Amino acid sequence: MIHIEHLHKSYGSGAEAHEVLHDINLSIDSGEVFGILGSSGAGKSTLVRCINLLERPTSGNVLIDGKDITGTTGKALAEVRSNIGMIFQNFSLFQQRTILRNVTFPLELNHTPKAKREERARYLLDLVGLGDFADRYPSQLSGGQQQRVAIARALANNPSIMLCDEATSALDSTTTAQILDLLRRINRELNVTLVIITHSLSVARNICDRVAMIDGGRIVEMGDTEQLFANPQSDILKTLIADAAIENHRHHDDATETTATEKEQQA
Ligand SMILES: Nc1ncnc2c1ncn2[C@@H]1O[C@H](COP(=O)(O)OP(=O)(O)O)[C@@H](O)[C@H]1O
Ligand SMILES: [Mg+2]
Repeated sequence: MIHIEHLHKSYGSGAEAHEVLHDINLSIDSGEVFGILGSSGAGKSTLVRCINLLERPTSGNVLIDGKDITGTTGKALAEVRSNIGMIFQNFSLFQQRTILRNVTFPLELNHTPKAKREERARYLLDLVGLGDFADRYPSQLSGGQQQRVAIARALANNPSIMLCDEATSALDSTTTAQILDLLRRINRELNVTLVIITHSLSVARNICDRVAMIDGGRIVEMGDTEQLFANPQSDILKTLIADAAIENHRHHDDATETTATEKEQQA
């Protein structure tokens, strides 16, 4: 369980200080798929980076399974981080390493013996559907395949939590659906708690059990995904849902027009 209490985060100090997260409070249950939805600049990445302490909260606390991790450093911090995998929009693979050696990398850091780390990496590459790609390099893979490698690497240390920061934002809609399916499977089969950061309503709707809507560094509403989308309370979510409906309508009209033109051409 992830528990965030009265978290504030400022960048800069003194007169330059600029608070980007204001009094964030939330709890994410073990095994849950939890969405953090918001527009660009809302503070989503900053918030998620406070969970694995890539950013230090200015004040407030982060608890994982009841343990306050906010002040951890050194070896204890490394242990906290090995329990939290993370994936990004741009995949962030090591270009000079093969796929296999991308996945073994976290295991090299904690001195897992070579045979054992390769065995684990091959198991994970099979799991994400890339068993035959072990000896290739990232540049030889599609975006969706690269994100699968990043997912395998994030799972190397058998984490109980995975943070996904705009993990599908660089991918087309078909590939997005495939990656979301894979993440769902990892959640169900490996019981990994997922924190899904996204600006996309459809991603949040597709995969999240619950969603927190964040705007201007504040949680403006939070709840069950279906309930939230059926009955939005905040102006920002109401607007996003209305915009998405207009956009859908336009696609629908485009599709109908194409069909009409095709029919004309066939006639
Ligand atoms: N390292 C940083 N230094 C100063 N300001 C930052 C830094 N990182 C993010 N910010 C600012 O914090 C705000 C939230 O950014 P971010 O968390 O990246 O939002 P999001 O991920 O929702 O797009 C933005 O105004 C951004 O400019
Ligand atoms: Mg971001």
